[in-house]
Amino acid sequence: MDSINSRIGRTLISAEEISDAVKKAGAEISAEYDGKPLLLVSILKGAFVFLSDLCREITIPCEIEFITASSYYSGTSSSGEVKITSGLTRDISGHHVIIVEDIIDSGRTLSAVAEIIRKMSPLSLKIVTLLDKPERREVDLKADCSLFTIPDHFVIGYGLDLDEHYRNLPYIAEYKE
Ligand code: IMP
Ligand code: MG
Repeated sequence: MDSINSRIGRTLISAEEISDAVKKAGAEISAEYDGKPLLLVSILKGAFVFLSDLCREITIPCEIEFITASSYYSGTSSSGEVKITSGLTRDISGHHVIIVEDIIDSGRTLSAVAEIIRKMSPLSLKIVTLLDKPERREVDLKADCSLFTIPDHFVIGYGLDLDEHYRNLPYIAEYKE
């Protein structure tokens, strides 16, 4: 247990900073989608904490769905292969969709998920991500809203894991190799 916790590096984004940014994003979404059928599609597992906080800052009616995507991470590096292990089974053509993601790294996961959703013909599609590491981008993909831009360093906490640990940290920290 100690060795696991000793890998938690310096705090990059505090719980308070996250909370302020999530409140602001929730207010913006509530204003922009007022009167429109809104569906949040979150990518498991990493985005579950962000989604649960964000949806409670949204003051207009909204629905929630999940997609499971794995990018075959081993340790801190991605294989580049993306597998969507569970898809959306319902009709979303009557909804404005926002994809809620934890972090955009190479961009591969999100472009695969966005392509699947686009083919399902939602009324509109936007991407909201908690974190963005633009230096690492391998495919051409931009979020419509990114709460924090971070440098190229592996991070943990607030849903983000290293080998399934640290998702429960209430803030974002650097991982100490
Ligand atoms: P991408 O497909 O390379 O953009 O990777 C996206 C996925 O990789 C994210 O949804 C995370 O699950 C994971 N990931 C990327 N960077 C990090 C990181 O710094 N910490 C933890 N997970 C990460
Ligand atoms: Mg993820």
